[in-house]
Amino acid sequence: MPGSHRCEEFVDMRAIVVQKFGGTPELADVPVPEPGPGEVQVALDSAGVNPFDLKMADGLLEGKMPTDFPMILGVDGAGTVSAVGSGVTKFAVGDKVVGKFLTAPAGHGSWAQFSVVPEDATLVPIPDGVTSVAAAALPIAGVTAQDLVDAAHIQPDQTVLIVGATGGVGSFLVQLANIAGAHVIATARGDAADQVARLGAAETIDYTQPRPADPNLVDPDPAAYRDSSITGAVHFTHPDGIDVLFDLVSAPADFARHATLVRPGGHAYSTTWAADEPALRARDITGGNFESKGRAPELTRLLTRVAAGDVVVPVQMTVPLEAAPTVLGAGNARGKTVLAI
Ligand SMILES: NC(=O)c1ccc[n+]([C@@H]2O[C@H](COP(=O)([O-])OP(=O)(O)OC[C@H]3O[C@@H](n4cnc5c(N)ncnc54)[C@H](OP(=O)(O)O)[C@@H]3O)[C@@H](O)[C@H]2O)c1
Repeated sequence: MPGSHRCEEFVDMRAIVVQKFGGTPELADVPVPEPGPGEVQVALDSAGVNPFDLKMADGLLEGKMPTDFPMILGVDGAGTVSAVGSGVTKFAVGDKVVGKFLTAPAGHGSWAQFSVVPEDATLVPIPDGVTSVAAAALPIAGVTAQDLVDAAHIQPDQTVLIVGATGGVGSFLVQLANIAGAHVIATARGDAADQVARLGAAETIDYTQPRPADPNLVDPDPAAYRDSSITGAVHFTHPDGIDVLFDLVSAPADFARHATLVRPGGHAYSTTWAADEPALRARDITGGNFESKGRAPELTRLLTRVAAGDVVVPVQMTVPLEAAPTVLGAGNARGKTVLAI
């Protein structure tokens, strides 16, 4: 192809795919994608794992975005530009890059040896000093956390509760809220309390443990008991309420309970579409269901903060590409899981 540089030595590549929505993720050999005009081919060496990957495999985008099968999973990825199509001006072969490998049609994701995206997609250079493993952990989780902190306009000394603080989004959010000057209350099972404290949490709540201060301790329903543990603990230490709720895990009923902690004039966000927005407005609370819009500029900003040492990338584990089906949806996240390709 005139004006393009191609990776000739590969015909097929290894990728993690599903054959249909709801199918079982599996390792497969699929053709190496070639870049068309305006497109960039990346030889991936690291790919991030997010809950969104399993949701996509299960059909989240069915009817919303055309999808090619076998569908190659994965959105977050980092590697080296291996070929560029005609007309590409932003990238050259050999550039170290990180980005989101999800454009229409879906199904050409980052859990593969190669992927192709338009040069105008969310694809940015990796600064010196940031490893590709760290970079691949950032695009969805890290940028969502940064977007949340920006949206809430956190002021110094505000009280912020993060529910689901130990996972991918949460472990960035604890840091970024702390950097913004907030007093951070983070939920964390006992094994993760030290980790979130090191990341910047001033208080931790083990949502699985009974709390002597909780007036609902006798509740025999485990779900209600757990929720009352969070609300009870926060009421006990902050009887006047909190300024900001970031809830990364709850279903609507739990989110509504957590939102009662927020003072009028405060902010409450759900990343799981659990917020009843009219009910929040009725209490003069802004926010609601949050969808990260972060693209290249926001990813670059976060990479700059990581390169400067201001933000730590909490990588829980790195596993080989072929282990992706076993870590997908495994639960109990303690930061980010990254695939080594
Ligand atoms: N809307 C958006 O733009 C957007 C962007 C990114 C992510 N998301 C969504 O946000 C959610 C979180 O993403 P993530 O990447 O952070 O997930 P993750 O890495 O799987 O982390 C979830 C964390 O929550 C903890 N957890 C589970 N149940 C909990 C509970 N009842 N109370 C407190 N903590 C609990 C888990 O650990 P334990 O179970 O061990 O406690 C885990 O550490 C996902 O549903 C994801 O799809 C949405």
